[in-house]
Amino acid sequence: MLAKEKVLDYVGKVLTAELTAVHQYLLHAAMCKNWGYQRLHEHFSHLAQEEVGHSSGLIDHILYLEGAPQVEQVDTVAGGRSVADLLEADLRFELEDAELLREAIAHCSKVGDFTTRHLLEHMIIDTEEHIDWFETQLRTIKQVGLAAYLAEQI
Ligand SMILES: [Fe+2]
Ligand SMILES: [Fe+2]
Repeated sequence: MLAKEKVLDYVGKVLTAELTAVHQYLLHAAMCKNWGYQRLHEHFSHLAQEEVGHSSGLIDHILYLEGAPQVEQVDTVAGGRSVADLLEADLRFELEDAELLREAIAHCSKVGDFTTRHLLEHMIIDTEEHIDWFETQLRTIKQVGLAAYLAEQI
């Protein structure tokens, strides 16, 4: 099916964000493993898998729209020196991702592309869950202190 105006631009931007998320969570999973925080390692690995799912769904959809998926494009991947750095960078990232998805969904509604809108609406549900998880971690750190939080992650 041929894509409606600008839909491929939006979907391409979302794909870049999702591929960036895969890279970022693989890195954060490995950093947490290296620091000895096994529970965080497992959660980041799980997030990376979900972002792989988002990416592959978008690649399928771009092909369906007769576009060319740009899989080699990735934005800057946020690193950090501590678990708190990672969690804060990831929350910022997910908030930006949600903003982009909302924009893309609004555009799809405007041009009447309901299949793309449906795909993106599924993705924003996961994105909001990711935001919630990062917010919860940061709130818990504030409440119990970083040392107590980290002791639970070993
Ligand atoms: Fe995602
Ligand atoms: Fe996400």
